Amino acid sequence: MIVVTGASGLLGGALVRELRGRGERVVTLVRREPRGPDERVWEPSGGGLDPAAIEGVRGVVHLAGAPIAGQRWNAAYKRELVRSRVEGTRTLVGALRELSRPPEVLVSASGVDFYGDTGDRVVDEQAGKGEGFLADLCERWEGEAREAEELGVRTVRLRTGLVLSGRGGALGRMLPVFRVGLGAPLGSGKQYWSWISEDDWVGATLHVLERPELSGPVNLTSPSPVTNAEFTRSLGRALRKGTLPMPVPAFALSAGLGEFAREALLHGHRIVPRKLQDSGYGFAHSGLDEALRAVL
Ligand SMILES: NC(=O)c1ccc[n+]([C@@H]2O[C@H](COP(=O)([O-])OP(=O)(O)OC[C@H]3O[C@@H](n4cnc5c(N)ncnc54)[C@H](OP(=O)(O)O)[C@@H]3O)[C@@H](O)[C@H]2O)c1
Repeated sequence: MIVVTGASGLLGGALVRELRGRGERVVTLVRREPRGPDERVWEPSGGGLDPAAIEGVRGVVHLAGAPIAGQRWNAAYKRELVRSRVEGTRTLVGALRELSRPPEVLVSASGVDFYGDTGDRVVDEQAGKGEGFLADLCERWEGEAREAEELGVRTVRLRTGLVLSGRGGALGRMLPVFRVGLGAPLGSGKQYWSWISEDDWVGATLHVLERPELSGPVNLTSPSPVTNAEFTRSLGRALRKGTLPMPVPAFALSAGLGEFAREALLHGHRIVPRKLQDSGYGFAHSGLDEALRAVL
């Protein structure tokens, strides 16, 4: 049995469908009244999780957290981004501590934002933490997950890149603009974006769950990050639409979207999935053109 938090989200939903499709029993932790025996209630920020709800499970996949994109990051929202992840992970690990039989594995979400703006440098899991709000957030979020290591639980921190899904997420927000031929590079367009298809995100998460040799940080990105300008051209090609040659200036993005624009759109992440590749994970989509064709 696998427990999943954040199961109503983009990635949680895809993972739960795949796990159940493979015959695995999945219990989801929900923040509302449970609707059946496979849902258990928890209150992530209030320390509210009855350990009995997760006694005897084989693995835990923890994805819950307030949405990073789609909201302006004022001070209160930044606190919520941190609180939902740091306190939620603390609540979960606190419950694991009370179990007579802890799970074999905890797989806990994080992001490539951990590395900060890495420019053109190719970065794998050995790189240290970078600068910025999201890097600090990832460090604190991962720090709470690492507490499970002391319980003898194999703990994996998923440093996920931009997940390409046909059902929403970042790509879903870009599509309306690109579909009318108004897609354009952002800022210099030279910043690297590390992407992964939704199928590979699910496949890699299952791989990580089943591989006892994998622990610590694992980059969930395709082996071929591209610059934002290449991403823009590739998405235009996939939709058979032109894109604008003139970039959206960085100052305009920052004025419209604030700090989110700088950290999530203009920072460069040329991240490679060293541990996935070394452990034999075979990507379904290694190149961006084919990934976008599959996703769209
Ligand atoms: N998608 C990406 O490209 C990407 C990239 C890097 C990292 N990640 C990380 O991976 C995780 C899953 O991503 P996703 O795209 O599936 O996110 P998502 O669609 O926003 O789903 C996150 C889930 O977290 C729960 N949640 C929402 N607000 C919350 C709050 N204030 N406190 C506690 N839980 C809350 C909700 O599930 P319930 O209602 O079921 O509780 C929600 O469905 C997130 O932590 C995200 O930061 C995602």
